[in-house]
Amino acid sequence: MADDKQFLEPKSTEPIEPDSGTAQPARPLVTRRDFLIRSNAGAVAVGVMTGAGFATSLVQRQPGSPQVVQPPAATIPLTVRRVTLNIDQKKYEVTVDVRESLWETMNYQLGLSNCNLGCDRAQCGACTVLVDGKAVNGCALLSARLGRGQKILTVAGIANGPGPGGLHPVQRAFWLEGGFQCGICTRGFVMSAYALLQTNMNPTNDQIKEALAGNICRCGEYTKILSAVKKAAAELRGERVSYTAPLIFAEKAPPSAAPAEGTVSKQFEFVTPLGTIEQFDEMALELKQKPGIVGVSGSERTITPVWDPAKLDETKVRQILVETGHPVRP
Ligand code: FES
Ligand code: FES
Repeated sequence: MADDKQFLEPKSTEPIEPDSGTAQPARPLVTRRDFLIRSNAGAVAVGVMTGAGFATSLVQRQPGSPQVVQPPAATIPLTVRRVTLNIDQKKYEVTVDVRESLWETMNYQLGLSNCNLGCDRAQCGACTVLVDGKAVNGCALLSARLGRGQKILTVAGIANGPGPGGLHPVQRAFWLEGGFQCGICTRGFVMSAYALLQTNMNPTNDQIKEALAGNICRCGEYTKILSAVKKAAAELRGERVSYTAPLIFAEKAPPSAAPAEGTVSKQFEFVTPLGTIEQFDEMALELKQKPGIVGVSGSERTITPVWDPAKLDETKVRQILVETGHPVRP
């Protein structure tokens, strides 16, 4: 019994001495305890960098045996994995550290700059990619767990063809609606919007805000981002879309809406001026969704709706403005 106890609970962490001619109790080359102690000293990191590893099972010195049984030469360290990543329908064989994020693997190992890094701690969404259709933060996803056939989709994989004319409707809408400034957040927003529109091509403003809740734009382009997603959705539904910016690649892009003929417009003055022009943008976006309203322009003090007289008249337009919380003067 005493020998059994010694076998189960080795007291020393010293390496086993060469054969002294007497039977030794079998013990692992590196015990769990050794591993934990050395981990604290940073030995794991060194092991990864040098290719050294730790025994995966008890490597015993057999009683009476002069040699220590070594692990198979082909054993790779526990701290790395060989995985096959399926990114934008291309397969990449890569050896990754088990602590390596998908963003790190794509950028540092594969040279793919398909998603940006913002916070590197799952807070901003700049690194958003899709894994099997779900928007996830590439900075917080371990590459080692993505080698089981998961389909990773980045902003480079959604275009329909080369050049600006081949942009996916979501990409085109962000571009032509001006849904960006510095662009750090844009790829993440595009992918979150893409994921939403794959399952819901007619989202409400609240649904869009919910779907993009994990993405932060430090430049504050939220109004135009919202508008871009709505226009992309309209285009995906097959509707004619007009963008804020001119469609300079019109010959390759879907036809934009021609200005409606026979429309009516009138400038009104708000009873209570808006606080900021950003407020106007959001209100205009809401108004444009009302049947019969074909355009809106204005400022913090005035608004000029354009409407289809076959569907609306001035009284109804005034009523719509009241319903949106912005009545205008008689
Ligand atoms: S960089 Fe990944 S969430 Fe911010
Ligand atoms: S465009 Fe600059 S952070 Fe969004």
